[in-house]
Amino acid sequence: MFRRRLLDHFDRCRRDLPWRRDRTPYSVVVSEFMLQQTRVETVIPYYRRWLTRFPDWRSLAGASDNEVLLEWKGLGYYGRARNLHRSAKMVCGRFGGRLPDDPRQLRSLPGVGEYTAGAVASIAFGQTVPAVDGNVRRVLSRLLDVGDPTPARLRDEAARLIDPDRPGDFNEALMELGATVCTPRSPRCDACPVEEECGALAAGTVAERPSRSVRRRVRRVEYAVAVVVAEAPCPSDAAASHGGGGGDGGGHGDGGTGTPGYPRTLLVKRPPTGLLAGMWEFPALAALPDLGLTGTPGPRLDPVTHAFTHLRATYRPVIVRVAPAAPPPADHAWAHPDHLDEWALPVAQQKIGALLREWLRGNRRRASG
Ligand code: ADE
Repeated sequence: MFRRRLLDHFDRCRRDLPWRRDRTPYSVVVSEFMLQQTRVETVIPYYRRWLTRFPDWRSLAGASDNEVLLEWKGLGYYGRARNLHRSAKMVCGRFGGRLPDDPRQLRSLPGVGEYTAGAVASIAFGQTVPAVDGNVRRVLSRLLDVGDPTPARLRDEAARLIDPDRPGDFNEALMELGATVCTPRSPRCDACPVEEECGALAAGTVAERPSRSVRRRVRRVEYAVAVVVAEAPCPSDAAASHGGGGGDGGGHGDGGTGTPGYPRTLLVKRPPTGLLAGMWEFPALAALPDLGLTGTPGPRLDPVTHAFTHLRATYRPVIVRVAPAAPPPADHAWAHPDHLDEWALPVAQQKIGALLREWLRGNRRRASG
């Protein structure tokens, strides 16, 4: 009965999402990676652009790291982009261009854990395997009226309930119920197709299920950021390639001779591992002397904050005007402030870029007025 009610409701109310049309194993994997820690509404435009840019495993496997990061830019949790890219290379290499349908083999792909393997095996290949994400955990916790069900318990319950005739739809229907009806706050129990079977509703404990996990302590960090402004090319090196490239194979439209004109601003590439690996950012104020850049710190721009999973970062940008721009040090690049969208900049850095452009516009107005 549970299956029937859930699937009937899903058939009537399912959202028309782009990854539910023209499904291929590849498109299912892309959508599941993007949805791992991000809301459906945010994912939709990224998913569409991604499939236009990288329509299949081969095109993704053949892309550069930078091209991949640029397409993912703004979606956050960039490790997912790197894992998806590495997965595409494995599919094209080890698996001959075809995604395996066995959940165990799927789990050998980077970034594919138990949930994603279950979602992909059921949705793309019709295998009867459960897929328990955060939404499903909440639905089951309420259904069973258990505050903190173990992963094993959740897996067993989901495996017991799943419809072997429509396993992919069943899994998606559970996720959908959690996202649209059985929501964390103000669940719409009156609109729930399985209301009669809900243990927490009967016991009056819906609001307490699942029990809230202990909140992780969020570390606060502050960064003094140098927004370097170089007004003119270095006279001793006027023909050198200022900006762009950065030695990573390019993909930057303002590289070298692409965009004439100044000012330029300095970007640095983050290390290949760790938080925001391989992305670009404005350098730390404290790093300028080591780079041989001297300038007078000018006005401070507004602080920019960004919440990472266990980190709340405040960036305090300050304009530093420097003498003519020398060729960039290793892993650094001179970028055109109007073309920062061509760089893989994390969201907070894009905001600093916008503050820089605003400041430059104000400067121009002051200079001409
Ligand atoms: N969240 C994770 N996978 C999903 C899917 N296929 N549809 C909607 N939300 C999801």
